[in-house]
Amino acid sequence: MLEQTVQIVSNERDTDSYFRLVLRAPQIAPLIQPGQFAHVRILPLKDALLRRPFSIFQVAGDTFSILYKNVGKGTDALSRMRTGEELSVIAPLGHGFTVPQAGGETPLLVAGGYGMAAMFLLAQRSPQKGIVFVGGRRRVDILCEKEFAALGWEVRATTEDGSHGEKGLVTQPLFSEIQISKFKIQNYKLFACGPTPMLKAIGKIAEDFNLPCELSMDEHMCCGVGTCLACVIPVKAGDSWEYQRTCTEGPVFDARQILWEIPK
Ligand SMILES: Cc1cc2nc3c(=O)[nH]c(=O)nc-3n(C[C@H](O)[C@H](O)[C@H](O)COP(=O)(O)OP(=O)(O)OC[C@H]3O[C@@H](n4cnc5c(N)ncnc54)[C@H](O)[C@@H]3O)c2cc1C
Ligand code: FES
Repeated sequence: MLEQTVQIVSNERDTDSYFRLVLRAPQIAPLIQPGQFAHVRILPLKDALLRRPFSIFQVAGDTFSILYKNVGKGTDALSRMRTGEELSVIAPLGHGFTVPQAGGETPLLVAGGYGMAAMFLLAQRSPQKGIVFVGGRRRVDILCEKEFAALGWEVRATTEDGSHGEKGLVTQPLFSEIQISKFKIQNYKLFACGPTPMLKAIGKIAEDFNLPCELSMDEHMCCGVGTCLACVIPVKAGDSWEYQRTCTEGPVFDARQILWEIPK
């Protein structure tokens, strides 16, 4: 993990309110593992001390990129930054995904909206290809379909308004695929990133079908490096439970570990 001031190579709109930011970071780029994140200080912001966490989307040569949605003050300021301007980043952070092995379980990747950003590197570095399920509210929320297909993955899109792919929630085609696979000799492993209700539903599917599953949890963060405890979630610990930090023990957790409600 390094803290560095890095330069913007490009910062371009993808679809609607989504942007792709490429940063030159020759020392950070080679360290990055799939599912890790960068904690970004947006220097033009008045309260620039508060960093924002973003999954590391792609790595190419001495650069890495972020795929972000403009949702508020920080991301709006970020969207107005230009090539050559600087950001402060701490990266790579967190515990990422386990990269599938050749000949092992077939990976099923599930992403909602910008959750897709956490999945690309995993798909790229996995020798075992599988299916990517991408979901969003509208067509513009479906990101990187062609890029995943170019990596040799089958892509199935779902939109809630039916404007692209199958109409409904991303968990529906995932459930159907697993249900059908009961009649085939097929071992699946699930990997997911997206809104918490989606992750909870996927964790339930994995539990019902007794499938291994890794979930990247989206919790609000402050320090990003394990000191403030703003990002804790309850997880099982033997016969009991404990809090773990999403920024250091996560963001990726084994779904079987996660407690979706704090025990009374
Ligand atoms: C590990 C991790 C990885 C992430 N990866 C990405 C990514 O790849 N691309 C991306 O676009 N975003 C990602 N996020 C979410 C991103 O950090 C927030 O969208 C960002 O911090 C919002 O900053 P803001 O100042 O623009 O929004 P604010 O003005 O602070 O808030 C605007 C709205 O966004 C909501 N928001 C703030 N933080 C989060 C969060 N963590 N999750 C959900 N909603 C939030 C607020 O509740 C509010 O409704 C990630 C978050 C985590 C924890
Ligand atoms: S954000 Fe501070 S401990 Fe995780």
